[in-house]
Amino acid sequence: MPKFKAPGRVNIIGEHTDYNDGFVLPFAIDRYVEVDIKPSNRYVFTSQVMNETVSVKKFQKLGKWTDYIMGVIWVIEQRGYKTEPVEVIVSSNLPIGAGLSSSAALEIATAYGINEIFNLKMDEMQLVEVGVKAEREFVGVRCGVMDQFTAVFAKKDYAIFLDTSNLKYEYVPLNLADLEFALIDSNTKHELSSSEYNKRREECEKVLKMLNKKSFREINYDDLSILDPLLRKRARHVLDENKRVLLAVRALKNSESFLLGNILYESHVSLRDLYEVSCDETDFIVGYVKGEIGILGARMVGGGFGGSVLVLARAGHIDKVFMELEKSYFKMFGKKPSLIKIKSSDGANMVME
Ligand code: GLA
Repeated sequence: MPKFKAPGRVNIIGEHTDYNDGFVLPFAIDRYVEVDIKPSNRYVFTSQVMNETVSVKKFQKLGKWTDYIMGVIWVIEQRGYKTEPVEVIVSSNLPIGAGLSSSAALEIATAYGINEIFNLKMDEMQLVEVGVKAEREFVGVRCGVMDQFTAVFAKKDYAIFLDTSNLKYEYVPLNLADLEFALIDSNTKHELSSSEYNKRREECEKVLKMLNKKSFREINYDDLSILDPLLRKRARHVLDENKRVLLAVRALKNSESFLLGNILYESHVSLRDLYEVSCDETDFIVGYVKGEIGILGARMVGGGFGGSVLVLARAGHIDKVFMELEKSYFKMFGKKPSLIKIKSSDGANMVME
């Protein structure tokens, strides 16, 4: 019985730029969502993680994990493909709500599965589009393309330098020498994450309207002076963050580790102060690890309002720093963070059993 699996992702840099025609630099991680799909006479979805089975006759938004699966099938049908009811069993070792894009992984694994079992012959780019559309139009989060693109196109040992304005991309080797990336999950997800996400998008659309531009790529720093202070901060983040992606690509190619680390710290400050999508828990983690021996850089990853912090560390240093952090974090917030060791991974594929 074939299963279909898709990975989560971290983004080295380029946060909240993907719906603004900007640059991103993500890589897939070795944590996956796996789905087992077979035709059935009803839609029956089981999540082993949620320990729940949901059975429905027709598509309906339920405001939970099933929306990602139904959304994908709904988009595929809307595109004129013929499918039939399916039974889907979801398993996963990718934490949910950790900013590691478990939703895109579930969408893409489902899209791969439906494509395969009904022999629809959609290509990889179409599968990305299906995932993005499901998230935007069914789930209701007006996401960019980064997560679904990474879940499909990722390559082990490489990051993807993607220009979201034209979807041109380049694989950049993860030349980390004696360094490693690790994640610290704040184990926090603030309720506002999707409403604030959509609000940031609207603010960015307002920026374009006020400046009478079609794309953020046509905007330069001089243009920002006519914006009100809040919109100026948002726009400033996007322009700065795009520059940081270009610098980070160069740093990664030349193994300039200090530079890469500093870029991560700068990005976090910008996400905290200009784009205002971080939170006390992730700010605390970044502030704590900064300056610890062996730590070169850190920042929140993903949409924000909780989730994980990406840390760039010298190999072998993260465990000790984490042990100390864990105590202080517990004192401050009354709960523990989690350390997630990661490796890069390939994009989605079929697993034969
Ligand atoms: C979420 C979205 C992405 C991207 C990030 C922020 O993960 O799904 O498209 O916008 O937030 O960079």
